[in-house]
Amino acid sequence: GAPQDLAGRHVVVSAGGTREPIDPVRFIGNRSSGIQGYALAKVAAARGAKVTLVAANTSLPDPAGAAVVRVGSALEMRTAVLEAAASADAVVMAAAVADFRPVTSATSKIKKREGEDTLPIELVKNPDILAELVLRRTPGQVIAGFAAETDDVLEHGRAKLARKGCDLLVVNQVGEDLTFGAPDNAGVVLSASGPEREIPRGSKEALAAVVWDEIAALLG
Ligand code: C5P
Repeated sequence: GAPQDLAGRHVVVSAGGTREPIDPVRFIGNRSSGIQGYALAKVAAARGAKVTLVAANTSLPDPAGAAVVRVGSALEMRTAVLEAAASADAVVMAAAVADFRPVTSATSKIKKREGEDTLPIELVKNPDILAELVLRRTPGQVIAGFAAETDDVLEHGRAKLARKGCDLLVVNQVGEDLTFGAPDNAGVVLSASGPEREIPRGSKEALAAVVWDEIAALLG
């Protein structure tokens, strides 16, 4: 069986992609499948952790041993993650959280209008949950994020790790047919306190195992 190096630990993982409502039937979404976050939850549970999985718009079976909290929008994810994080030893933000949401969500379905060929939708920035977790960090708590980049992956990743103030940041390259919805992934784990660790292309479970190795080492 797996090492029980997370026994007695409570960990929180976010997964999936948020949907930001435009009206009752429409949303702004993204291509995240949730597979990487679910793999993180599954691996942590197998290694003995108590796992809270905050899942946004996924259609995957609940991972064995994880308590699943379902959310839709970034604001819902913020509430669920911050609540669960208050009692957590580690938090991994694997979800793709929308950076912006429509300023208002129409209460009834938006209709096409005669003579109007454009429909402006004004967006407002969502709170950065990862940055907020860092501000509210409890003593000894480990906080990790993911960063999907399409170019200059390492440079953007290093800058983001410094800006967000988290302990670990997993960076990976994304594109039309890389990573999203795929069973495999590759990346580099950036650490605020240790060396960078390259993870060759392999299963999302294998990448999850490396992330938990790093987190277990930081938890001591
Ligand atoms: O800045 P960027 O969106 O690339 O950062 C990615 C990381 O930040 C991910 O771990 C994601 O879950 C987290 N994030 C967040 N709240 C946001 C946007 C991103 O927690 N509003």
